Amino acid sequence: MIGVVALALAVLTTTHASGLWTDNNWVNGKTFSPTNYTVVTGLFVQDEPTFNATGYNVLTDGFGLLDKSAKRWSNFTDYIHRLNREADDYTTYKVIYIARHGEGYHNQAESTYGTPAWNCYWSLQNTDGNITWGPDAVLTPNGVAQALAVNAAWKEQQQAGVPLPQKLYSSPMRRSTSTLNLTWSDILLNKGYIKEMFRESIGLHTCDQRSNLSIIQEANPGWQIDKSFTFHDELWNPIYEEQLNQQALRVRMLLNEIFATDPSTFISITAHSGVINSFFVAVGHQRFGVQTGGFVPVVVSWPQRDMSFRITKTAELMRSDRSRQSHIPQPPWQ
Ligand SMILES: *[C@@H]1O[C@H](CO)[C@@H](O)[C@H](O)[C@H]1NC(C)=O
Ligand SMILES: *[C@@H]1O[C@H](CO)[C@@H](O)[C@H](O)[C@H]1NC(C)=O
Ligand SMILES: *[C@@H]1O[C@H](CO)[C@@H](O)[C@H](O)[C@H]1NC(C)=O
Ligand SMILES: *[C@@H]1O[C@H](CO)[C@@H](O)[C@H](O)[C@H]1NC(C)=O
Ligand SMILES: *[C@@H]1O[C@H](CO)[C@@H](O)[C@H](O)[C@H]1NC(C)=O
Ligand SMILES: *[C@@H]1O[C@H](CO)[C@@H](O)[C@H](O)[C@H]1NC(C)=O
Repeated sequence: MIGVVALALAVLTTTHASGLWTDNNWVNGKTFSPTNYTVVTGLFVQDEPTFNATGYNVLTDGFGLLDKSAKRWSNFTDYIHRLNREADDYTTYKVIYIARHGEGYHNQAESTYGTPAWNCYWSLQNTDGNITWGPDAVLTPNGVAQALAVNAAWKEQQQAGVPLPQKLYSSPMRRSTSTLNLTWSDILLNKGYIKEMFRESIGLHTCDQRSNLSIIQEANPGWQIDKSFTFHDELWNPIYEEQLNQQALRVRMLLNEIFATDPSTFISITAHSGVINSFFVAVGHQRFGVQTGGFVPVVVSWPQRDMSFRITKTAELMRSDRSRQSHIPQPPWQ
């Protein structure tokens, strides 16, 4: 933490100085996000460099787990628990099941009109007079069927012992909260947890303008919503659209928050193609397109052990004295 604080001060100094001195020789500081995520590979086919997403169906391939033995999920769960048990105080492992919502009316309109016409004209409208996708597009009947197929696949893997998520995060968009509900409501009693920062690329497209808080609360009774959530959508605007690197930064900031506050090991996130892409960028996973209704399991760790100045964890401030080990065991089946 000392290192990070010192760097933060250096940035402030730079900002201040550059206002006074804008010489071409001025050397700017670096910009970076202080958290270092690592994807644990060797577990899922989606992490393999040879993975081909075209035509791949995660639901009929046991979610992509490479181990196809009968005990695969208990092996997997044991392995993840072992990683966490043996990790030092500055490292944690989480399995993140990141899902894309089922087909929405905006997806239907985009395939009807084609991506160029969608992007430069139709996405800025709310409707074509027949179907309506803005604001806050909802699921089509096909999207509902896709979410129910994901629900059925989870039930099937549940028979094989898949570790279920302990926390269900969602984008605030209706197509995401509906997909979450259809996927989980008859498997888990957990209610969703709505995170504004899991919403799709902000701006321009009307389908990405979210509903009012009261509409979201009414549709999702008992769900948790961040205290900072505003009644109206104050982030969306009709002129500018957020770019991938900006979105990746906010997704990473949200991951930092989740890693800092949520001790769950198995986490589900229901969001959007842009969020999944940003998530891949944020954690350093190879990028590929995920179909509507699809999802990807990713094992992410947050290792800080290589930093000479370590992040001071809350536990350390509280004088935790757990022993530290830096050995990472290999998966038992390798
Ligand atoms: C990926 O799979 C699709 C469909 O099977 C195939 O057409 C395509 O050539 C593959 N791409 C690569 C790079 O192997
Ligand atoms: C993992 O699965 C294999 C095959 O079913 C089994 O032989 C092995 O004992 C399992 N390992 C663990 C650690 O459970
Ligand atoms: C209206 O949209 C539906 C899909 O929701 C489509 O099947 C139908 O062909 C459309 N009608 C017209 C007149 O475009
Ligand atoms: C899911 O939606 C149904 C209505 O469609 C509702 O009764 C139920 O409370 C919802 N479940 C959750 C977990 O919000
Ligand atoms: C939000 O709520 C206001 C009333 O408070 C209403 O006029 C408006 O149409 C709502 N907007 C959306 C996007 O739901
Ligand atoms: C980030 O983590 C990787 C993998 O543990 C390590 O090789 C790298 O040195 C780390 N970078 C920093 C800045 O800690």
